[in-house]
Amino acid sequence: MVKINEVGTLEQDGDVAVLTIDSPPVNALSGPVRAALHDGMLQALKSDAKGIVLICGGRTFIAGADITGFGKANTGPGLNEVFDALENSTKPVVAAIHGTALGGGLEVALTCSYRVAVPSAKTGLPEVKLGLLPGAGGTQRLPRLVGAEKALGFMTTGDQISAADSLKLGIVDELVPENDLRGGAIAFIRKKLAAGEKPPRVRDRDEKIAEDRKDPGLFDRFRKANARQFRGQLAPEMIIQCVEAAVNQPFDDGIKTEQRLFGKVIVSPESAAMRYMFFAERQANKIPDVPADTPTRPIKKVGVLGAGTMGGGIAMNFANAGIPVTIVEAKQENLDKGLATIRRNYENTAKKGRITAADVEKRMGLLKGSLDMNDFADADMIIEAVFENMDIKKDVFAKLDKIAKKGAILATNTSYLDVNEIAAATSRPEDVIGTHFFSPANVMRLCEIVRGDKTAKDVINTTMKVAKTINKVGVLVGVCHGFVGNRMLAQRQIQANAILNEGAMPWDIDRVLYDYGFPMGPFAMSDLAGLDVGWFKEKSTSSTIREVMCETGRLGQKNGKGFYDYDENRVAKPSPVTEKIIKEFAAKAGKNLRDISDEEILERTLYPMINEGAKILEEGKALRASDIDTIWITGYGFPLYRGGPMFYADQIGLAKIVERLKHYEKQMGAFFKPSALLEKLAAEGKKFTS
Ligand code: 3HC
Ligand code: NAI
Repeated sequence: MVKINEVGTLEQDGDVAVLTIDSPPVNALSGPVRAALHDGMLQALKSDAKGIVLICGGRTFIAGADITGFGKANTGPGLNEVFDALENSTKPVVAAIHGTALGGGLEVALTCSYRVAVPSAKTGLPEVKLGLLPGAGGTQRLPRLVGAEKALGFMTTGDQISAADSLKLGIVDELVPENDLRGGAIAFIRKKLAAGEKPPRVRDRDEKIAEDRKDPGLFDRFRKANARQFRGQLAPEMIIQCVEAAVNQPFDDGIKTEQRLFGKVIVSPESAAMRYMFFAERQANKIPDVPADTPTRPIKKVGVLGAGTMGGGIAMNFANAGIPVTIVEAKQENLDKGLATIRRNYENTAKKGRITAADVEKRMGLLKGSLDMNDFADADMIIEAVFENMDIKKDVFAKLDKIAKKGAILATNTSYLDVNEIAAATSRPEDVIGTHFFSPANVMRLCEIVRGDKTAKDVINTTMKVAKTINKVGVLVGVCHGFVGNRMLAQRQIQANAILNEGAMPWDIDRVLYDYGFPMGPFAMSDLAGLDVGWFKEKSTSSTIREVMCETGRLGQKNGKGFYDYDENRVAKPSPVTEKIIKEFAAKAGKNLRDISDEEILERTLYPMINEGAKILEEGKALRASDIDTIWITGYGFPLYRGGPMFYADQIGLAKIVERLKHYEKQMGAFFKPSALLEKLAAEGKKFTS
């Protein structure tokens, strides 16, 4: 075995050279990795080997460019030199893929003559998720393999696909045994050597893009079909232009187009925000006083109390991860309903082809329904999702205390209530923690993990790890009303309602927030949830616009009329009735309505949220500003390309935020008073995030 450098080795196995890259954690294309690829190839070409296998050590094939290296000076050979060595090799080279071949990693594989993968491997070009485009030839080579339309879908979603799908698409040439990637790759290259095939180059393939040239309308169709999803972002359009170049320009010109457009996206504010979020999400796992080596408790069996909206979704997360769940309900009919909803959800997923019918049965088989809390006796973790009422929560936690085995984690899904008070209902507050999932709990990625005053460190570490196991982003927060996300959301809601009372229509406010990048505005959201959630006819006194709406039978999407009018396809239209209600409500209160600018709507809905975020930091209820951003991106549909409210505030400039808050404070009162931390950072010219 020859050592090429600190991350590369070359070995010979008979007539095949094996070039191994081993650069933890994910073999990213750093200077040393590029040098090992380049120099390793030159040495392999000089050797008497006839074929070459490129393989990686550790958990994955190359997972992309080194994201930490963007914007820094490059050391070692450039990617072009590496690609030249691989693509123009006189000896066939096969990329042997395990883990994830992502971004620049997949682009390296596409310059090899062939690609083989183990069945568990995945491929993807996720650059768009960082506001980038595949800038190492991916936009030019992939369409030549799979055609423009599939390449566009692949690159503009950035999603990973399985090895089996990669094989179907032609990205991978053959699957090899899971436990023998190296042997499989060597056997594959020997087969090719025996066939005497000249090493093929993806860049020379033309059959797919020749077909695409017959359909020049394909790009505009794709733009139109995805306009809503791509709004506010530069990278998807740049990717489309690159693929247009792949189809219509010679390869070398297409590469130049790709490089030119990569130069644009890499300096875009969206990409800066998205790259920040990549690291923010990972940073959330790091808790200063709960280091990674803190012990964990084994979680092999889970209990969920309550099979309602949240309990069902929470149980699904565990079943998806292969962990058995006992669901306990108060009433048989609610248990039946809850389990039926879970089954329906799984069957719908199966209908979309994302899981098989056998998966549905396997997952349902992991769920056991019961009406008896004693069935929680052997659970390692019990998550309570009953009604949001302190007396009920205390009562069930006192019962859980008696039933749960020693060391079991007792978690509450409360949205607002005091986790310390709930913990005090047990004799083991150190085992109690909040796990605040978001609706729909089987879909939304966020889980706010609420640390009580007495929560033990191993309980925190275990719960953070559990979140990862069930594919959630766990963010640690402290006890306060509404924790981080809902507490900040309340500020936005107060202002949205105030602005409505001053003269803006629901659709004006919604439009401003939609254009900012949210999937929907607060009033469309209320219509979706139902205006009568928490409304009681007998107690209603026409004291708010919402009460009046409910009193006049405007309940939201469910009956086709809420703030908006809905047609039979649930398409929303501004409602003249709503407008009349708002105007009459103001007239009754003797208020003059005024025109409110879009700028004022945006500032008054976002800046108080940012101010609340600053208070949360001041009080230590979030560990860092980037945790707040992670919560908003993964739980509330905050546009990823804005980087979260705190990152956004930094881009606007904290001095400007303070100035505008003071402006509104003067006009409208103390609600807008900037927090001490915000004022301090602004005065010092500092930022929330670094
Ligand atoms: N560059 C630098 N560091 C990276 C990295 C990358 N491309 N990918 C992952 N890391 C780091 C993470 O920050 C993390 O560091 P930490 O332990 O200090 O927090 C560590 O590697 C492990 O990452 P994860 O915690 O995410 O580990 P997982 O096993 O959950 O996931 C993964 C592994 C699927 C590879 C995931 O890390 C991932 O998706 N990485 C990003 C892949 C990507 O976006 N590649 C494209 C880059 S852009 C590009 O290639 C441009 C090119 O076209 C020119
Ligand atoms: P839900 O009303 O849909 O379900 C609650 C279920 O608990 C009902 O089926 C009820 O029969 C059952 N239940 C009540 N008392 C019980 C008991 N003593 N033993 C066993 N089962 C009992 O309520 P939902 O929406 O699922 O909320 C549950 C919790 O999750 C609440 O604390 C809520 O604040 C929180 N939450 C709700 C979110 C949402 O969007 N619905 C989002 C995040 C948190």
